[in-house]
Amino acid sequence: MNKYIKKILNKKNKSKIICLTAYSKNIASVVDRCSDIVLVGDSLGSVLYSYSTTRKVTLENMINHSKSVRLGVKKSLMVVDMPYNTYDTSSLALRNARKIIKETKCDAVKLEGGKKIIKQVNFLIKNKIPVMGHLGILPQTTKGKFRSKGKNSKEKKELINDAFLLEKSGVFAIVLECVKSSTAKQITHELRIPTIGIGSSVHCDGQVLVTDDLIGLNNTKIRFVKKFINIQKYLNLGLRKFVSEVKSKKYPSKKYSY
Ligand code: KIV
Repeated sequence: MNKYIKKILNKKNKSKIICLTAYSKNIASVVDRCSDIVLVGDSLGSVLYSYSTTRKVTLENMINHSKSVRLGVKKSLMVVDMPYNTYDTSSLALRNARKIIKETKCDAVKLEGGKKIIKQVNFLIKNKIPVMGHLGILPQTTKGKFRSKGKNSKEKKELINDAFLLEKSGVFAIVLECVKSSTAKQITHELRIPTIGIGSSVHCDGQVLVTDDLIGLNNTKIRFVKKFINIQKYLNLGLRKFVSEVKSKKYPSKKYSY
């Protein structure tokens, strides 16, 4: 088993797992220092390309960004999202997962869904592709407005069944996106593998956020996003200083010229 996956499994019930997104080398190298998992999420579609849906993200998009991220990730597990329509059948899923891993040198892939994609997940794992699961809100296939999941008993039952199916198939962790707190708590308690929450309460074994959101680079207004720093403010300060020194001819001084 991959040593990073082993480390993540060992954290269950001991210490929180940190998962953060990165879409390119420089952010990845900073994120890598404090996280267990660096995720190249297909959220890059909305964050970087302003797509209205992650369904527009292509395999080529994911591979190109992941190649850059790989250059910055030295000590975390690197997981890449398989984009929409790239794992519709088992053979397609295997072909595309192998392509992602071969070209990006990532450690694992993430697929959205439970029962509906369990054949593909089983097939990938049987073929030695490490898989991370994703339940709750599934941005690739949710139609209309995103609503939290697991609020009524039918949804709760479905989520718990899906989580057990994924665990049985051999996924090493499951992202729970916008799952009601009590349901996330029960799933986390009953599974042997870790849950990584996003908007799914403190009860999960770890937390994931889109890095651009938490550093205030992306002006998103989603309930679960806490802006831990306003990085735009610091960027503005630095850039304004540059502009001012260029205008006053302070920069480039002799020291910075040939
Ligand atoms: O695409 C993504 O970044 C994700 C996380 C938000 C879990 O799937």
